[in-house]
Amino acid sequence: MRKANIVVFASGTGSNFSAVVRAVKTGVIKANVALLICDNPDAPVINKAVKAKIKTVIIAAKDFPSRDSFEKAVIGVLRSCNADLIVLAGFMRILSPSFVKRYPKRIINIHPALLPSFKGAHAIRDAFEYGVKVTGVTVHFVDEQTDHGPVIIQEPVRIEGKDTLQRLEKRIHKVEHRIYPEAIDLCLRGRLRFRGRKVVR
Ligand code: GRF
Repeated sequence: MRKANIVVFASGTGSNFSAVVRAVKTGVIKANVALLICDNPDAPVINKAVKAKIKTVIIAAKDFPSRDSFEKAVIGVLRSCNADLIVLAGFMRILSPSFVKRYPKRIINIHPALLPSFKGAHAIRDAFEYGVKVTGVTVHFVDEQTDHGPVIIQEPVRIEGKDTLQRLEKRIHKVEHRIYPEAIDLCLRGRLRFRGRKVVR
């Protein structure tokens, strides 16, 4: 049986990308990281992919006149690599409903808060500043709404008195790097069933 192909979409640092690559190397995930798609030519994740010898395609959104034309380019690249699962790892673009519909239950995302709380691009900071005592990490399927699709795994992180924002960020990322590979493995092994919008194992 052929191994599944994972395609990672990322725009920034790429620590989750590296965690996924490591999980593939150590056999936690039995699949190939077929490709990294990056929309930001200056993103540090590109260097990480070069070092890990992962094929990378840079599709700079600023080179396209519209989201539609950008996504058409992405779809063209995805066709060429038989993508089984699209893994968003700090991808800073909102995918259009028509893009999402094209890959039903095949796009997942990691969000650094317990959804539906603290949606958006600054979730760790927002939770810290709000003063909640518990935040966490969510891995979910991507649907047509932002930070909204069916939840695959959630793990709470208690905010401690000695946390600064930086310390909390580190603790959240540590959890991300452990549970994203777990969630990817569950998806690829077909262990997940749907009951309405609920994901059950
Ligand atoms: C992570 O916190 C992830 O939850 C969010 O974006 C961040 C990406 O970090 N979606 P990195 O680029 O993987 O280090």
